Formats: sequence, C-alpha cells, structure tokens
Amino acid sequence: MPNDIAVIPGDGIGTEVVDRSLPVAEAAADAAGVSIETADYGWGSERYLAEGAMMPEDGLDRLRDHDAIFLGAVGHPEVPDYVTLGGLRLEITKGFKQHVCERPTHLFEGVTSPLREYAGGEIDFVVYRQNTEGEYADIGGREYGGFDNEVAVQSALFTREGTETIVRAAFEAAADRDGELTNVTKSNAQAHGMVFWDDIVDEVGAEYPGVSVERLLVDAASMDLVRRPEEFDVLVASNLFGDILTDLGAGISGSLGLAPSSNVDPTREHPSMFEPVHGSAFDIAGEGIANPIGAVRSWALLFEHLGEASAASKLRDAVADQLADPDAPRTPDIGGTSGTGAVTADLRERIE
Ligand code: NAI
Ligand code: MG
Repeated sequence: MPNDIAVIPGDGIGTEVVDRSLPVAEAAADAAGVSIETADYGWGSERYLAEGAMMPEDGLDRLRDHDAIFLGAVGHPEVPDYVTLGGLRLEITKGFKQHVCERPTHLFEGVTSPLREYAGGEIDFVVYRQNTEGEYADIGGREYGGFDNEVAVQSALFTREGTETIVRAAFEAAADRDGELTNVTKSNAQAHGMVFWDDIVDEVGAEYPGVSVERLLVDAASMDLVRRPEEFDVLVASNLFGDILTDLGAGISGSLGLAPSSNVDPTREHPSMFEPVHGSAFDIAGEGIANPIGAVRSWALLFEHLGEASAASKLRDAVADQLADPDAPRTPDIGGTSGTGAVTADLRERIE
C-alpha cells in the first residue's frame, strides 16, 4: 500500500516550496523503494476570498483517512491572519489532536550563523512545543468597543491531556538523545497555568529518572539560546513560548527558510501534519527565490513519522551535502543568488 499523503500548498511561497519540494520527496521515496501517493487540496486564502471559507465544512473528514498531511503555509495580505491561521491550520492541529509540535534547530556546515563563534554542527537542539491550546486557545472577548472602559480578555488554557502529551513526547526525545531536558516556563508570573505546567513536568519526569531537567524562565531562555545555544538539547515549551523560541532557533541557525516542523498526534488516531516553520512571505512571493529546504526537511520528518527512515535520511543527507558544498546553488536568504527550482533540482540530482 502506498503512503497516502494529503498536500495543501496554501498561499504565497507555501505553494512555491510545496511544488518544488514534492519531486524531491518523490525522488527520495523512489530511491528508498517507498511508494507514495498524493492528493492535492487547493485550500487557502484564494478559496476564502471566493467562497468565504479557507476550507470546506467537511475538510477534516476529507483529510482524516490520509496517512499524513503536508502543508505549505497560509497567509494573504487581504485576509486577516487570525482568519487564515484559525480557518485552516488551527482547525487541523486542534481537530486532529496534534498536541505535539516538534521543531529541530541545526546549524549546518556551510551555513553562517549570525552568532559568529559557531561553526556547523555546534548548534543542534529540538523544541517540543505544545500545539493545540495554551495561549492560543480561542477563549476571550471584547466589550465596550470605542469607550474609555473598553476591555479585551484573552485566556490561556492548559489541560492535563494537552500538557501531559507534549511533556511526555519531550521526555521521550530527551531519553533518546542526551538525557537533558530544558523546561521553559514562566511560573513566577503566571501562577496558575504555568505552575500547573511545571507540576506536570515533575510528575511525568518521575517516570524518566535518566533525564535531568533544567527549569528556565522564558525570558532567560531567550537570552541563553543566543548566549549558549550549544548547551541545549531538548526544550519543552507552551504554544506561545515554543512559537517564539523556534523562530529564534531558525534565526541563529541561519535562516527561517531552513526550518522544518511537525504537528503530531502521538496516539496516531488522526493523521499528523508536516510543514516548514515559515509563513507565506508576501515580501518574496512570486519571485521564485523562497528557500525550499525547510519544506524538504519537513518531508524528512514526515517519512520518519511514517516509519520510512531510509527515505528520510536520503533527504537529510542531500540537504547536508548541498549546504556544505560551496559550489551548490543556494537561495538569497543564505547568501546565494539561485532560485527555488535550482536548489531542488540539485537536491534531486544528489538523491538520484
Ligand atoms: P514569514 O515566515 O512568511 O516571513 C518572515 C520573513 O522570513 C520574511 O522576510 C520572509 O521573506 C522570510 N522567509 C520566510 N520563509 C522564507 C523562505 N523559505 N526563504 C527565504 N526567506 C523566507 O512570516 P511573516 O512575514 O510574519 O508572515 C507572512 C504571512 O504568513 C502572515 O499572513 C502570517 O500569518 C503567515 N504565517 C503562516 C504560517 C503558517 O502557515 N504556518 C506561519 C507563520 C506565518
Ligand atoms: Mg511561528
């Protein structure tokens, strides 16, 4: 049975990196003797502008039976961001209980970090971000619009299921890697949600005596990821903190365009979703210069999740080889002059 993958290119450079990275993923699958089949869903902002919704009402049902989902990005200058994100990406992550967002940060050989002391391989950590609730719960409201007493309330939601799931995934990863976990928290200022969070880390941690836990407040963690990134291995963080820290990770490892991401339901009851960390990037959309490597690395995470480790490592090796090769094409965000298609054509050659 082929692996059956739903592909949602979305908007802006999302469509560009999906169009170009798919043949690379297919080449890796071929080379590894893996068969894949894709179904394309043209959902996104164009659909919203024409029909009033980012995806059809039965969108989740259409996705449910696929083995995995690959998303480009959503976001459009004429549609508010809370509509594009809430009407598609968050529907899927929440609806399919994709509690676990895994975002690796790796400084590749051949890529320059803005942190000048660091060479390839010296920065390598992975952030486990709670993906379905926390500060991004859709709970709150506005009252007294335009008056002096106007108020807005935005509440954060921390459930035992959502918190335990991400914390356990992070401990599992830490146990597989160096046995060190950093718990990113803000329990000095947020005495309800984040103290609950810390309690769950302690509770789950009792089952992992081989993993040592460092607790860091998110402000200190932001500073330390710049000051001593080499000391981090696995970090676990709430939805908002994880969102911010992973862009920071992308920044110190050379470019947002290189960063991959997965949204996983560890129970495997629902399909998991894979996507580059970046958005639709209106500023460069249509120019053909988007870096496709974040998308290619996301395909590697997808194959890994489906148990196709050999296809995943073919993608990872091709990316590492290409970035380390000073003569290989590269996009402007990492100092090159090539376009998206030249980079993916070169990756295909390396794989084939
Ligand atoms: P963005 O990630 O689209 O772009 C931020 C900056 O990084 C821009 O200067 C862009 O040119 C650059 N960049 C991003 N990806 C790149 C790549 N592959 N190659 C080269 N350069 C790249 O974030 P921004 O500008 O804040 O948001 C634009 C839209 O994307 C908004 O509508 C936002 O809501 C949406 N967005 C969607 C996400 C998703 O679908 N998961 C995630 C983040 C933002
Ligand atoms: Mg983000």
